[in-house]
Amino acid sequence: MSQNTSSAVMQQRSEPHDSLDDFPTQPWATRALCEHVLTGCNLTGKTVWEPACNRGHMSDPLGEYFSAVWASDVHDYGLDGAFRHDFLMPYTPRMLNIPGWGVDWIISNPPFRLAEQFIAQGRGMAGEGVAMIVRTSFLEGVGRYEKLFSKNPPSIVAQFSERVPMVKGRLTATGSTATSYCWLVWQKGVAGTKLVWIPPCRKKLERPEDYAAYREVAA
Ligand SMILES: C[S@@+](CC[C@H](N)C(=O)[O-])C[C@H]1O[C@@H](n2cnc3c(N)ncnc32)[C@H](O)[C@@H]1O
Repeated sequence: MSQNTSSAVMQQRSEPHDSLDDFPTQPWATRALCEHVLTGCNLTGKTVWEPACNRGHMSDPLGEYFSAVWASDVHDYGLDGAFRHDFLMPYTPRMLNIPGWGVDWIISNPPFRLAEQFIAQGRGMAGEGVAMIVRTSFLEGVGRYEKLFSKNPPSIVAQFSERVPMVKGRLTATGSTATSYCWLVWQKGVAGTKLVWIPPCRKKLERPEDYAAYREVAA
């Protein structure tokens, strides 16, 4: 039997079971969420928590749209202002020691193997909504359908028309990927699921300083 070694198959993202899943998101993909998906949500004056913030490549662009951004991660990647926290641990606002606790949105690129738990935890905490960027293949699977989508379908599935290259351990400006991504959004009080496409927008939303400011802190 021949082995399939096409570049598409070779570049698929797979990680050991206990991995932190250290795959930073290109900042333009977060701007695409704010500009093309959360339209009408009026993010100004709102607070957002990025609970798997890594080196800040998602929490930084969120700060361009939200009035306050909290950033945490289970691992310390050296990001200024971030706190260390396992998002899946039981918590109280006092434990997190955040003055004026209350978060409108929880937005992240969660570790793939924990994405369902991140979504459930986020939905229990966010006042307005949860948005998670996931591989599009996350939408399939009988187990996930039974546990998540049949009971709590997202309000929006926003499929990228462009690829969002993510590579392990660093932000890449140039990488390619065979993996397709979408944003899933759960908005409080919104019934039904809307499927939308994120139009090509990388060129408009990407900035050279996104990569110049890259923090090369080893995990
Ligand atoms: C796919 S990376 C995403 C990084 C960042 N959100 C971004 O988009 O650039 C997943 C991140 O989840 C973090 N992580 C893994 N398990 C976690 C947990 N239980 N609680 C909080 N963060 C966790 C990892 O350390 C890693 O930084």
